Amino acid sequence: MCGIVGYIGKNPALPILFSGLERLEYRGYDSFGFCVLNNNKIDFLCKEKGKISDHCHLRDSKSVGTVGIAHTRWATTGLVTKENAHPHCDCKEEIFIVHNGIIENYKILKENLVKEGHKFISETDTEVLAHLIEKYFEGNLEQAVKLALREVRGTYGIAVVSPKYPNKMVAARMSSPLLIGVNSDEFIVASDPSAIITRTRQIIHLDDDEIAVLTPDNFVISKQERESSSWSVRTKKIETIEWNLEEAEKSGYKHFMMKEIMQEPSTIEDAIRGRLYFEGGNVKLGGFENVEDRLRDVSSLVLIGCGTANYACKVGEYMLEEYAGIPTETDIGSEFRYRKSLFSKNAAGIFVSQSGETADTLAALREMKEKGLLTLGVTNVVGSNQARETDAGVYTRSGPEIAVASTKAFIGQLTTLALITVYLGRQREMALVMGNRIIDEISKLPELAQEVLDTKEDIKRIVGKYIDYKDFWYIGRKYNYPIALEGALKLKEVSYVHAEGTAGGELKHGPLALIDENCPTIAICPSDSVYEKMISNIEEIKARNGKVIAIATKGNEDIKKIVDDVIYIPKTLEMLTPILSVIPLHLFSYYFADALGKDIDKPKNLAKSVTVE
Ligand code: F6R
Repeated sequence: MCGIVGYIGKNPALPILFSGLERLEYRGYDSFGFCVLNNNKIDFLCKEKGKISDHCHLRDSKSVGTVGIAHTRWATTGLVTKENAHPHCDCKEEIFIVHNGIIENYKILKENLVKEGHKFISETDTEVLAHLIEKYFEGNLEQAVKLALREVRGTYGIAVVSPKYPNKMVAARMSSPLLIGVNSDEFIVASDPSAIITRTRQIIHLDDDEIAVLTPDNFVISKQERESSSWSVRTKKIETIEWNLEEAEKSGYKHFMMKEIMQEPSTIEDAIRGRLYFEGGNVKLGGFENVEDRLRDVSSLVLIGCGTANYACKVGEYMLEEYAGIPTETDIGSEFRYRKSLFSKNAAGIFVSQSGETADTLAALREMKEKGLLTLGVTNVVGSNQARETDAGVYTRSGPEIAVASTKAFIGQLTTLALITVYLGRQREMALVMGNRIIDEISKLPELAQEVLDTKEDIKRIVGKYIDYKDFWYIGRKYNYPIALEGALKLKEVSYVHAEGTAGGELKHGPLALIDENCPTIAICPSDSVYEKMISNIEEIKARNGKVIAIATKGNEDIKKIVDDVIYIPKTLEMLTPILSVIPLHLFSYYFADALGKDIDKPKNLAKSVTVE
């Protein structure tokens, strides 16, 4: 959500900032801006509404400055206007800042600053920071930033420059990701590694309460001690980005979403690589080693995630209850923290998130930590807040997901939750033979997922038949109930067509009132323990002239007699069917949105990684 790039080095900053922003645009894309310095002058200053990709001419603007900051925005405080776009500056245009996050006490700070004579031109919380730094700016930029940050409450990843000190950049972080890309003749500050991968793979993650002061040749990172408020210099480890440039590019696909759906089989492969232990009918999860004994004592679980990740949790709930025998419940982050949750002493939380930066999920995680309960993560992004703050966790290894709508990351989450189910099950009553059966089926999933993808032309043809419909219903039961929710979310998200998901059994409790020849239903009905019940639900729909597209198990010819269209998926264990049944739904949403000409990778009003509550 929003993206930051800052450059300080020996090369012209603008083209580097520009291509960094292009790569970050998936995190927010309603407006953007740059500030480049050349010696004591502002060399290039620009803010625009809209997407940076619609303003490519700016890349070639005349600018030779070698220090600069840039930002792509997803509006939170203040409308989408040029004035509200970053960078923001102080009254004297001596402090320029880009910011991700939210300054929660900005209103009171602004009131005081206005009383002191500061003039504001935007509605944003970020501009307050610029003026606050100005207030403390007495010839030492980093000191002014430190003093200003002492007054703010909230979250921030910031980069600050000043034409008065053109060879310096100050960056700081509190609960909003920020890293420094380290190269032989330059440093690049960014909120996301994809912004810097074309120039360097060597990075340093900033931690909360840390501040970095960068010059073209050097940088110093210091941390404020919470108790004493004093600052101490930190030595940080340089890490290497594991994934390569190709993974952050479209590689010939029209959209990232399609590329990522096509990666779903390899996502499963990556999630299970080296983790299946056939002899022991078990899985090896290195991330759980340190808490192995505590996990044995866990008596109940709560699974928490938002949006698509929450639907993965819901599937996980069915898996864990049925196969690990652990009482499990699922909640969304934004609700969990306001509940008076009652936990037994040995309860544990599993937090599921692609980005590991979703504010609502993190808030729920912190809430559970405060209660002294064990917290576990299922996270994709290495080094994210969630990955650092959970007691233990398992990475999904899904690689960078750039399209705003989550697809392959969901597959990675489901696969990882299946592995965790085997792990916790084998610690309890699950027999070796059952452990073996599940991991054997898991090992076949990449091939089966590929089989589903190979039917993509049929799915595209079916989309063509339904493209004029304005409302869709999705139904499923048990393991595939959350998949109905995911299918509906994906369709509305990328095509802006109204879609709703319900448990099949709930249809007659209300939604059936809306079913007629104008509202087709996608029914997820593999041949499993609830198949007969699903058929009853489909018949209820057919009796009201509703059209039905079924997702059914290969070989089920009978279903063709009842429904209008069928998409087949191969047979697998019931608990694993969601991993296959969701693939056609991802493809359906993609082709639907593409046929309508939507901006698939960057749906309106949305952004990747929701770092605000
Ligand atoms: C939907 C989607 C969102 C995310 C949600 C959580 O396609 O992408 O619903 O799943 O915002 O994000 P993470 O997984 O990063 O916590």
